[in-house]
Parts: sequence; C-alpha cells; structure tokens
Amino acid sequence: APAGPLAGRRVLVTSGPTHEPIDPVRYIANRSSGAQGTAIAEALAALGAEVVFVTGPASAPMPVGVQVVPVESARDMLAAVETALPVEAAVFAAAVADWRVEGAGASKIKKDGSGKCLELRLTENPDILRTISGLPAGARPSLVVGFAAETDDVIANATAKRLRKGCDWIVANDVSPGTGIMGGAENAVTLISGEGAEEWPRASKAEVARRLAARIAAHLAEEGVA
Ligand code: C5P
Repeated sequence: APAGPLAGRRVLVTSGPTHEPIDPVRYIANRSSGAQGTAIAEALAALGAEVVFVTGPASAPMPVGVQVVPVESARDMLAAVETALPVEAAVFAAAVADWRVEGAGASKIKKDGSGKCLELRLTENPDILRTISGLPAGARPSLVVGFAAETDDVIANATAKRLRKGCDWIVANDVSPGTGIMGGAENAVTLISGEGAEEWPRASKAEVARRLAARIAAHLAEEGVA
C-alpha cells in the first residue's frame, strides 16, 4: 500500500478540454492543454492518494500512477465524475465547454452548395463543479476545489464564483495576455477559501500542484475524515 499523508484517501481530478460534437466527425473544443490537471493528479498520487483522473481529450501527457478515465463531452464528464464518487476531495481543473450543439445527430452535415450559412444552436452544458458542490452531505466530497481563469478583478470575481458554485476553495489564476500562463509552464494563483484570499508566488505548474496537494492533505488531516 502507498505511504504518505493521503494514503487511503480517494480523490478525483477533472482535466483537459471537452469536445462537443457537431456531427459524428466534427466538434467544438477549446485550447486547454490539461497540463495543470495532470500535475495536480501526479502531486496527489505522490502523497499516496488513490486518484481518479477524468480527462477530456488533452494534449498534455497523462499522469502516471492514477486511474485515467477518458471522456469526450461535458455530459460524459459529469457521468464519469458521478460514477467515480464517493471521493474525499475533488479538484475540478477541466476547461469544460459551456455550450454544446443542440440536436447533434448521427449523420454528417452536408453542404448543399447554395452558399447559405449553416446555423448551429448552442445549449448550455451542465455545470459539473456546481452539481457536485450541491450534493447532500455524505454524497458530497468533503473538499471541493474549483478553478477560475480571470483576466480582471481576479480576487473579487473568484470570490463571487466560489459562492455561486458552492465549492470550498477556488484556485484563481490571472490569465491576462502577457502573463504567458495560458499554455505556458508556469502559473500564478490565488487560493480563495472561506478564510479569504492567499496569493501564491508565481511558480511552475508542478510546484503549484505540489502546494495544492499539500494543502488538501493538511485539510483532510485536520478535518479528521476517516
Ligand atoms: O464557470 P467557470 O467555467 O468560470 O468555472 C470554472 C470552474 O468550474 C472550473 O473549476 C471548471 O472545471 C468548473 N466547470 C465545470 N463544469 C462546467 C463549467 C465549469 O465543472 N460546465
């Protein structure tokens, strides 16, 4: 059995983008690499946790020493997360698509040569973080951590997001152009909890992940979750 402060603890990490089908061969996606999610999963595993890693189609390498559950769409991701429960802590690092194509079907859309615009209607995806945060005690992980990529008023926006989503912590990062954080190797984050905001020094995504994993371990130990 693994040793470490998270030995015997089951934790969940979501990561990567989601792909939302337009038809069987096309999809809508975003530029998330999944790098921070992979680093977090590895850092939790290094502390001894049993990690379930639910990931959309990411370009970053898969974490080693964890259970990888690959998914495509936001709805697939929610189902996989629900299947992975119960867990003691859950970190939602995925860049989930906010919308999906309504009525995406089993047939490839054909162009008819008329030059007319193709119209796609987008419908809202489920909010996985909010759904899991709102589960009743017992089903809800005792620690739920969300992410917030912000460009302005990072602390105010992330604090509001924490309350709106119902999660315990928000890891807020400043993704303003010029920071080089989006797609880069480093991250600069502020940890928002019920106690306030704590700014962490800019560091590699691996270092941010180790620090977050250590905080999660300390929190679960303090809480005395059996
Ligand atoms: O609402 P927003 O996308 O800014 O919130 C970001 C946080 O919410 C991230 O932790 C992300 O993983 C999570 N999220 C989710 N399901 C969605 C949208 C966001 O779990 N549909």
